Amino acid sequence: MASLTVRQLDEKLKQQLRLRAARNGRSVEDEVRTILRGAAAETAEPAPAAPGSDRERGLGRPEQPLEQVSKRVLLVIGGGIAAYKSLDLIRRLRERNLAVRVVMTKAAAEFVTPLSVGALASERAFTELFDPQSEFDVGHIRIARECALVVVAPATADLIAKMANGHADDLASAVLLATDKKILLAPAMNPHMWSNAATRRNLAQLVADGVAVVGPNAGEMAERNESGVGRMAEPLEIAAAIETQLAGASGALAGRRVIVTSGPTHEPIDPVRYIANRSSGKQGHAIAAAAAAAGAQVTLVSGPVNVPDPRGVSTIKVESARDMLQAVEAALPADVAVFAAAVADWRVVEAGQQKIKKSGSGALRLSLTENPDILASIAHRKSKRPELVIGFAAETEKVVEHAKAKLARKGCDWILANDVSADSGVMGGDRNTVHLITPSGVESWPTQTKDEVASALIARIAAALGGESK
Ligand code: CTP
Repeated sequence: MASLTVRQLDEKLKQQLRLRAARNGRSVEDEVRTILRGAAAETAEPAPAAPGSDRERGLGRPEQPLEQVSKRVLLVIGGGIAAYKSLDLIRRLRERNLAVRVVMTKAAAEFVTPLSVGALASERAFTELFDPQSEFDVGHIRIARECALVVVAPATADLIAKMANGHADDLASAVLLATDKKILLAPAMNPHMWSNAATRRNLAQLVADGVAVVGPNAGEMAERNESGVGRMAEPLEIAAAIETQLAGASGALAGRRVIVTSGPTHEPIDPVRYIANRSSGKQGHAIAAAAAAAGAQVTLVSGPVNVPDPRGVSTIKVESARDMLQAVEAALPADVAVFAAAVADWRVVEAGQQKIKKSGSGALRLSLTENPDILASIAHRKSKRPELVIGFAAETEKVVEHAKAKLARKGCDWILANDVSADSGVMGGDRNTVHLITPSGVESWPTQTKDEVASALIARIAAALGGESK
């Protein structure tokens, strides 16, 4: 068929067609073709796609009605060379049965065209804040809200700075400020911009605000002879992070606030020496990560550790037990608090202001005093006590007996008791054998990885809270 002429359409239908065509960034004629193709595809048995053809590559397929796609992702494309990878990201998300609505910054349109973006997303790309058509069509507030997750890829240094400071002078930043949905950033920039103190500050602020981050990776930059950390994560990595976030958004702890303490504390003796212990932070960090994966808003208060900050978690780094207590109190209110840190029981009464020198007598007397008990003080609070307060018991003998006494003494709801004697390999190791002690009894769990212990604990917490957000 060479041409297509449709006569005798009533005005209302014509108006609807025009609107639909404008929304999808097509001519009216193209829109009618798309509708006809979709209708034909619904009634006909599809012929196998020729290798390398548009259909085989997933292009030009009939538009998927929104009711058939599981969720919508709002993709904000920033202006960087990595924007070309966003085209592949859109395809990856469509393959996963996700609808994609795209907002592009002006700079992004210098790297990829709204036309190619719109074709892959099967929906026009939005670019202007003051575009009467898109405001009439959807409006920036609806763009910001009608999605399950907002993804910024590439998240440029400029876009990150605007977000951290609440700017709203174009459609992308206005949408990012107006959204009530979780935001996932895929940063991409030159390594010097990435390591610049301003970017570090802005990103730390966004993470503290609950924004999740994927990447960047290390590697070659677009500029010649430049390499380092700053390459945007690959589309498949971003797609995986999106799936994790979407699972979390409807996860068992969605809408819950969780505080986790982790790692050792360092108690200063003088400016260069401190009292510490062998805690690695692996168990506490795994619990924070598992809570975030279940959709909770997590604050992790961590002593000095060598394990990376978990993604999607707001991590507050502290040194001493007193700093840790202060940070935990500042993070209240919360629904759940898990105290996995190995807090130093004592600190030096008066830490030296200068490095302590040898006196030649062969002995040094340090006067120690007890640190505040963070778990007990939160568990005994009259106000803002979390609904579920969970402690750990690090024991080297009579594990269950000592842990039961600790449960009563500390006033917490549950205790996870573990054997930390040297031959158990728990401190610093990847596996753990725990006993869950609650007022109704003792449950001994098999030896598992610390990640598995974390998942099992989060599942128990979700069950205890009823699995519904407040
Ligand atoms: N804890 C705490 N603050 C402290 C000491 C311990 O919050 N100053 C918490 C730990 O995070 C853990 C629980 O209390 O959840 C038990 O810690 P553990 O080291 O096993 O016991 P202690 O209270 O230190 O008692 P003891 O040294 O006598 O075994």
